[in-house]
Amino acid sequence: MMAFRLLLSCVLLMSGFSAEISVFVQTGDSVQLDVPTQELPEFDIFFWKNYKSEEIVRYLNIIKKVKLCDSYKNRVDFNNKSFSLTLRSMQKTDSGHYTAKASGESDNNIVTYRVSVIDAVEIPVLTVNVNRSSPDPCSLKCNGSNIITIRSIYNSSSCSPEDVTSSDNYKLRLSCSGDSIMCNYSNPVSWKTDIKKVNELCAGFQGPERKHAKEASFCVF
Ligand SMILES: *[C@@H]1O[C@H](CO)[C@@H](O)[C@H](O)[C@H]1NC(C)=O
Ligand SMILES: *[C@@H]1O[C@H](CO)[C@@H](O)[C@H](O)[C@H]1NC(C)=O
Ligand SMILES: *[C@@H]1O[C@H](CO)[C@@H](O)[C@H](O)[C@H]1NC(C)=O
Ligand SMILES: *[C@@H]1O[C@H](CO)[C@@H](O)[C@H](O)[C@H]1NC(C)=O
Ligand SMILES: *[C@@H]1O[C@H](CO)[C@@H](O)[C@H](O)[C@H]1NC(C)=O
Repeated sequence: MMAFRLLLSCVLLMSGFSAEISVFVQTGDSVQLDVPTQELPEFDIFFWKNYKSEEIVRYLNIIKKVKLCDSYKNRVDFNNKSFSLTLRSMQKTDSGHYTAKASGESDNNIVTYRVSVIDAVEIPVLTVNVNRSSPDPCSLKCNGSNIITIRSIYNSSSCSPEDVTSSDNYKLRLSCSGDSIMCNYSNPVSWKTDIKKVNELCAGFQGPERKHAKEASFCVF
């Protein structure tokens, strides 16, 4: 039993308790991966490895020397004080796990990042459909390219806000405020909107009383 427990704790130590941090990067952008330095033990060599377990950078502590892998040389910066790694011009194929390791008397995983490189969202399309003979005379439709379209109805000066989020974190939100209708399409790296003014399109639904009230306010006695 004791032997089993020792073995188990050994396995746990080797696999490390280092946290996995999820980061999203827009295609073409840079990302900086930091090292929580308080978790850095005594070490001889420090590495950053990619998802294929290839070394991107190797830092030899004793001689304070940095070695960069050839295939990354032109697009990484390694900070020899903080040990953070900056990767530039990220492409979708760069998505994956990046791990900082320190090795001395033992090997330690210091931190692991799960990097997801995704494109910015496309501009959504907001459609306003006016049909005077329908019970819902001013209907709204908000369409984000890879998400279900959402609909709502404009009524007086508001609409019930609707939103939907997909499993891969794309979000579409339709809302109205005063005389504007907004369709907001977003993902973890970007957001874009299509905004339309209500006045021109759904003006017919302000009701005669409101029109009078508006006109009255222009009277100066
Ligand atoms: C650390 O990096 C700075 C800036 O790139 C450089 O000037 C310095 O020589 C480096 N120090 C070591 C010990 O490598
Ligand atoms: C307008 O609404 C009416 C009543 O719901 C419906 O019969 C008609 O087809 C609609 N017209 C258009 C152009 O959608
Ligand atoms: C939403 O927009 C996409 C791309 O612009 C288009 O292909 C799709 O047909 C639209 N869907 C609806 C329900 O309008
Ligand atoms: C418009 O909104 C008002 C207040 O929220 C509500 O009482 C009314 O029933 C709505 N009308 C329609 C046609 O949805
Ligand atoms: C659009 O949605 C995103 C994500 O929810 C948010 O950060 C952003 O502020 C919204 N834009 C506007 C104009 O409301």
